[in-house]
Amino acid sequence: MEITKDIVYLGVNDHAVDLFESQYSVPNGMAYNSYLIMDDQTVVMDTVDAHFTDEWITKIAAALGDRAPDYLVVQHMEPDHAGSIDAFAQAYPTTKIVSSAKAFVMMQQFFGTDYADRRIVVKEGDTLPLGHHTLHFVTAPMVHWPEVIMTYDDADKVLFSADAFGKFGALDVEEEWLPEARRYFIGIVGKYGVQVQAVLKKAATLPIETIAPLHGPVWRKNLTASWWPIPPSTAIPPTLPSSWPRNCAPRASRSL
Ligand SMILES: [Fe+2]
Repeated sequence: MEITKDIVYLGVNDHAVDLFESQYSVPNGMAYNSYLIMDDQTVVMDTVDAHFTDEWITKIAAALGDRAPDYLVVQHMEPDHAGSIDAFAQAYPTTKIVSSAKAFVMMQQFFGTDYADRRIVVKEGDTLPLGHHTLHFVTAPMVHWPEVIMTYDDADKVLFSADAFGKFGALDVEEEWLPEARRYFIGIVGKYGVQVQAVLKKAATLPIETIAPLHGPVWRKNLTASWWPIPPSTAIPPTLPSSWPRNCAPRASRSL
């Protein structure tokens, strides 16, 4: 499935999960999104839950054939996204792993290795040229863990937004978008209001045409105007710090 001419969807749908993160009911399952960027250099954006490693690696191989990805970008270390890192690293021993310093500390804790021989540590403002595309890294601490980064592709104007802009529900189920997006937001990042506002402020300066989150549908079309429509001090109570699901929903078209 194409997101853009150069970006392919690699994610999976989980219908076996009943309580996401052991606490949130997900009657329509959950999607763990991952993407492939095809350029002179190829990039896999995040992995998936370990229950879906084989399905996911099969998708990578179908897209790339015998070619190994040049980079794996790890934006978030929660197991639903990081669960297949080590299997990927073994399947593709030459691929470089790109992530934040904090994420590599977690990899050492999770997998017993921080991939020191093939890691690239990135921080705010760092870039990764791929050919036509260049990736720009944006730190997003506590949206919703401390190691999180987001990634902006300046060629296709795609923001890979990690857990932000996600929703509950698998992508092969038709359901009303807003209730599950709102419930996801409140449960997953709502308690980190200051940090969410900070990263949205940074993202609002980018000319974004597509938002590719780690859960839920990909967002397209004229999104920047929707992100920051109401001054937070007047519109957003502190315990529910961003109103983006409510305000973006009518203007965002969804493709997955
Ligand atoms: Fe997540």
